[in-house]
Amino acid sequence: MTAALSELVQSAAPRFRTATEFVEATLREAILSGAIAPGTPLRQEELAATFKVSRMPIREALRQLEAQALVDFEPHRGAVVVQITLLDAMDNYAIRAALEPQALRHSIPHLSETDFDLAEELLAEIDQETDPGRMGELNRRFHMTLYAQAGLPRLIALTEQHLATADRHLRFHLAAVGDMGQDEHRELLSACRDRDVERAVATLSRHHNRAREAMSAYFASRDGGKA
Ligand code: NI
Repeated sequence: MTAALSELVQSAAPRFRTATEFVEATLREAILSGAIAPGTPLRQEELAATFKVSRMPIREALRQLEAQALVDFEPHRGAVVVQITLLDAMDNYAIRAALEPQALRHSIPHLSETDFDLAEELLAEIDQETDPGRMGELNRRFHMTLYAQAGLPRLIALTEQHLATADRHLRFHLAAVGDMGQDEHRELLSACRDRDVERAVATLSRHHNRAREAMSAYFASRDGGKA
């Protein structure tokens, strides 16, 4: 493992209640900061030695990181830090920027008070949430609630698929920017309530562009911007 990880382990240890929590949080920080490079195999024995814990909390922490899409389990290799490149992120934003405004345009006229209330509740939940995995899921549900009444099932399925892919990047985005664009979410919801399609689409584009620029700045500062 890297020297950077050993350093994080030294400085992090007293903050955690359980060994699993300690391993999970420290590895997550190391992955999001780039201290452990994408593609690095995470060997359980080696990690147990670095963290000075048994294999059990290591295995559990790796499963939690897998659920957060930060670690993949590959056949014959075991746990590996996910590969997320600037190119992946830019590709995903380009697809979302093409699909989501279309879904929104078709959906707005058919959104009901129930949809608006649900979207409002999801925003309140995002405000309270600190876990990046949960925040990604709530963000996706908020957006999909506003697109769901488009009446175009294949467009909606594609949109949801690419929003789910974006969850992987969102965690990196949150590490870099630290916010979910809640001001833009609120403005988007308000435009939808007013059935103001142009304002809603413009707000959504601003939301996408700001996130895209933040991601690109993050990758540039993290690893010299190489895709
Ligand atoms: Ni969003």
